[in-house]
Amino acid sequence: MSRLADMSTSAIRVDVRSTVGRDYPVLVGPGTLRRLPTLLSEHAAAHSYALVGDDRVMDLHGAHVAGVMETLGRPVHRLTFPHGEANKNRTEWIRLTDTLLERGMGRDGCVVALGGGVTGDLAGFVAASYLRGIPVVQLPTSIVAMVDSSVGGKTGVDVPLGKNLVGAFHPPRFVLADTELARTLPPEERSQGLAEAVKHGAIVDASYMAGVEAEAHGLLAGSDPATTRMVVRSVEIKAEVVSRDEMEGGLRQILNFGHTLGHALEAASGYRLPHGSAVAVGMILEARLGEMLGITEAGTAERIRTAVAAVGLPVEPPAGLSLPHILGLLSRDKKARGGEVRFVLLKRVGEVFSGEDGGAPAWSHSVPSDAVARVLDGV
Ligand SMILES: NC(=O)c1ccc[n+]([C@@H]2O[C@H](COP(=O)([O-])OP(=O)(O)OC[C@H]3O[C@@H](n4cnc5c(N)ncnc54)[C@H](O)[C@@H]3O)[C@@H](O)[C@H]2O)c1
Ligand SMILES: [Zn+2]
Repeated sequence: MSRLADMSTSAIRVDVRSTVGRDYPVLVGPGTLRRLPTLLSEHAAAHSYALVGDDRVMDLHGAHVAGVMETLGRPVHRLTFPHGEANKNRTEWIRLTDTLLERGMGRDGCVVALGGGVTGDLAGFVAASYLRGIPVVQLPTSIVAMVDSSVGGKTGVDVPLGKNLVGAFHPPRFVLADTELARTLPPEERSQGLAEAVKHGAIVDASYMAGVEAEAHGLLAGSDPATTRMVVRSVEIKAEVVSRDEMEGGLRQILNFGHTLGHALEAASGYRLPHGSAVAVGMILEARLGEMLGITEAGTAERIRTAVAAVGLPVEPPAGLSLPHILGLLSRDKKARGGEVRFVLLKRVGEVFSGEDGGAPAWSHSVPSDAVARVLDGV
């Protein structure tokens, strides 16, 4: 049987090791939703389920997914919140947890998060905190959620002082990424997710980055086989990293490549620049920074720029951002330690530079601020 034919009937499975929770499987492929009842009984048997999603995703897929879950013969409560990052907040966390209390969900309940990264983070944090913690299952529907946020156990909400500042590590019982659910995703949301796939290639697998670039057309058009291949490889990479360093004591930092400058650009734009676009530009600039410091092989930034452009993302920051403002935001980055801004730097596409810090490998590095200013000044 060809790989394509095989993909239409079976899920590809990647396992994630966890010390915070149990080890968990991630299943990827078109049509894998039909496995949901079996997976729920095997990994997340519960007296009742809360299917949590934003209004857009619940309108599109909520009834179908609830119907599949109801074949288990257990109550399924549908909980909807308004879509958008602005609703990944404590107000919605209060509303959702109060609703679960009113519906009488006990410690034998389970949350099923259906949606993009906003839903995964918010519903995951509801599960992490409700009655001191009940299981969560992640059903990602956006590319961001499939390739990134559903794996790794980070949950949380945004607060006025910053994004993701209140939360918990709460690994899911399993992740089911049915790529057919992503067919309804608007194209601009699709390219936002491709930024993280390019990042996965840039940090550990040059041929994967080249593959994402080569398949950009199919990926942007929502082709199931291309999307499945990408999600599988990204999940393998993220699973490998978080299995080795779940709590981000070291290696997990490499997933922040492109994010130090990306976060500053996002904030400097007043969050008008979407996260994927900011990371896309951040990766190019951070590769240039590494080249300037003599750490990153010449031509790396250019290769990343070509991949970023292929997946329909910007290669330059939006006009009108002020350099002092960006530099000010950088020094307030929550990953800044002892006042130093730290960057994940590449050796080349597919390989992260790991220097030594007191004998231990260091995955992020402080960089003189004048070098950062020079890179930003050049755009
Ligand atoms: N926990 C983590 O490790 C982690 C990692 C990366 C990102 N994140 C978080 O993820 C969030 C971004 O995720 P996102 O980009 O998925 O945002 P999102 O959840 O807001 O989804 C983007 C938009 O697409 C819609 N949508 C999602 N799936 C759809 C589908 N199948 N069909 C039609 N519309 C669909 C949503 O309704 C929303 O309007 C951020 O809050 C970020 O902090 C978390
Ligand atoms: Zn990101």
